[in-house]
Order: sequence, then structure tokens, then C-alpha cells
Amino acid sequence: MTTSTRPFAVVTGASSGIGYELAREFAEHGFDLLVNAEDGGLAAAAEELRGHGVAVTDVRADLRTHHGVDTLWSAIAATGRPVDAAALNAGVGRGGPFLDTGLDDEFEIIDVNITATVHLAKRLLREMAARDEGRILITSSIAATMPGPFQAVYNASKSFLQSFAQALQNELKDTGVTVTALMPGPTDTDFFRRAGMQDTKVGSGHKDDPAQVARQGFDALMAGKDKIIAGSLKTRAQGLANKVLPDSAKAGTHRRMAEPGSGVPGPDDAA
Ligand SMILES: NC(=O)c1ccc[n+]([C@@H]2O[C@H](COP(=O)([O-])OP(=O)(O)OC[C@H]3O[C@@H](n4cnc5c(N)ncnc54)[C@H](OP(=O)(O)O)[C@@H]3O)[C@@H](O)[C@H]2O)c1
Repeated sequence: MTTSTRPFAVVTGASSGIGYELAREFAEHGFDLLVNAEDGGLAAAAEELRGHGVAVTDVRADLRTHHGVDTLWSAIAATGRPVDAAALNAGVGRGGPFLDTGLDDEFEIIDVNITATVHLAKRLLREMAARDEGRILITSSIAATMPGPFQAVYNASKSFLQSFAQALQNELKDTGVTVTALMPGPTDTDFFRRAGMQDTKVGSGHKDDPAQVARQGFDALMAGKDKIIAGSLKTRAQGLANKVLPDSAKAGTHRRMAEPGSGVPGPDDAA
């Protein structure tokens, strides 16, 4: 239990990249935080966030599993605090031809990106709806708007989240609860290294600043917008173009960007 009068936010995938920057936005705007990730890097991120003068609880839990989501939810409930805002942001990818990628890697994408997000949204939204107050940000992607050759399951997972977020926003439109889809373009985080995509054009090319993406996402969340294509002008222009381009053309573009060997190899790719 806490006696804090500050608002309270939950961020998943808060140890690095876009999630860390989202957590920083919340901290800078005076939110106490409960942050989640799987690995040990979370503790250092939480310590940095405490530097903003807010209370930060870090909860390590593996969102690939039902048990991990239950662990996170129990920790949220144990604070005894209503959740004013949540950023369901944790996500993973895996590059490569679908015939070659491991099935377990594809299941990890589905478990973290989709299953855990649906699970947490169910828990959080019921609690928010009962209070008629709350905001949820779901990290989708510009990938949601295009078929993803060599990243087929990842793009499909983001299309799921995009549809899911916008359906919920509509269901809840006459309530005090909002759901916002955050749609970054290629962003300079650990994502592409973890996805084994550093030798691709998208993985080795210029990327947007995660702090800029998070700032735009935070502002959209606070404004109750249904979605935001976040990042540079180039990314937002691509988002606009994707509204009118046929799927076959978008698949061709994605193929050129994500095909293994299409880019400059990264330093870790020699191993
Ligand atoms: N970077 C891009 O170009 C881009 C573009 C559009 C959308 N996105 C989306 O943005 C979100 C954040 O990704 P990022 O780019 O910031 O990459 P990132 O730096 O790799 O961050 C991913 C975060 O998710 C967490 N995570 C991964 N697996 C987890 C698990 N099993 N359980 C709990 N947490 C887990 C990671 O924590 P651990 O390190 O502890 O595993 C980390 O905090 C993802 O949903 C991604 O799909 C990224």
C-alpha cells in the first residue's frame, strides 16, 4: 500500500528501447511506476527512473507464459493502487524465411506480443471500466499495415494488436477509458539485433529515435487518440502511403527491406 497522491502507470518491456522511453515519459510527468521486463537489465532501468523523483517498482516476469502474466498482475494488485495508465509494450520479432525460422521463435512472438497483451488488457480494462477511468497504450507497429515477408508472424502479430486496440477503443468510446495504438516505424532499439535482422536493409539502415517515438506515443495516450504513427516525418509519410498502396506492393517493399543479406552486416553478425 502507498499513500502517494501521484498517478500510477504500468509499463511492460520497460528495460530498454521504446518501453524504457515510455516509462521515462511517465516519470517525467509525475507518474509512479510499476515496470516489467524479463531480464536483469530491468533493475538498472528502474534505478534510473527513480532519479526522476517518483516511486518505481520493478517486477521481473516472463510474459511468454500465463504464469508470468499472473505474476505481473499479482504485483500490480499488491500495490493496492488503481492503474491510471498502462503501456502494453513488450514485444519480440524474428527475421528470416518462414520455412527456416524455428517454430518456438514464432510461438514466442505470439505469446509475448499477442497472448500476454490480450491477457493484461482483459485484467486492466475490467478494473479501469469499473472505475470508468484509465488509459491503455498498446505498442503496435507500422508493420501492422503491411504484409511482412521474412517477418511474417511478427507483422501478423502487430496487425492483430492494431485491430484489437481499435476494436476496444470503439467498444469503450462512451466510457472514461481510452485505448491507443502506438505505431512506430523502424526505431533505434535492440529489436533488430534480438530478431536476428542486422544483415537486413531495415536492420542496418537509419532508424527513428525511441525517445521521439515515446514522446509522441505518450502525448497521443494522454489525448485519448485511437492511434498514432510515431517517429520521423519519413515514417509518418510511409504510414500515409500504406493507407492507399495495395498489399502486394507493400509486401514487395517489405521483402526488399527485410530479406536476409539485403543490408550491411552488423558487428554481431560475424559470430
Ligand atoms: N524497434 C522498432 O523498430 C519497432 C518498431 C515498431 C514497433 N516496435 C515494438 O516496440 C516494442 C518495444 O520494442 P523495442 O523496439 O523497444 O525493442 P527492445 O529494446 O528489444 O525492447 C523489448 C522489451 O520487451 C521486453 N521483453 C521481451 N520479451 C519479454 C518477455 N518474454 N517477458 C517480458 N518482457 C519481455 C524486453 O525485456 P527483456 O530484455 O528483459 O527481455 C524489453 O524490455 C515491441 O512491441 C516492438 O514490437 C518496435
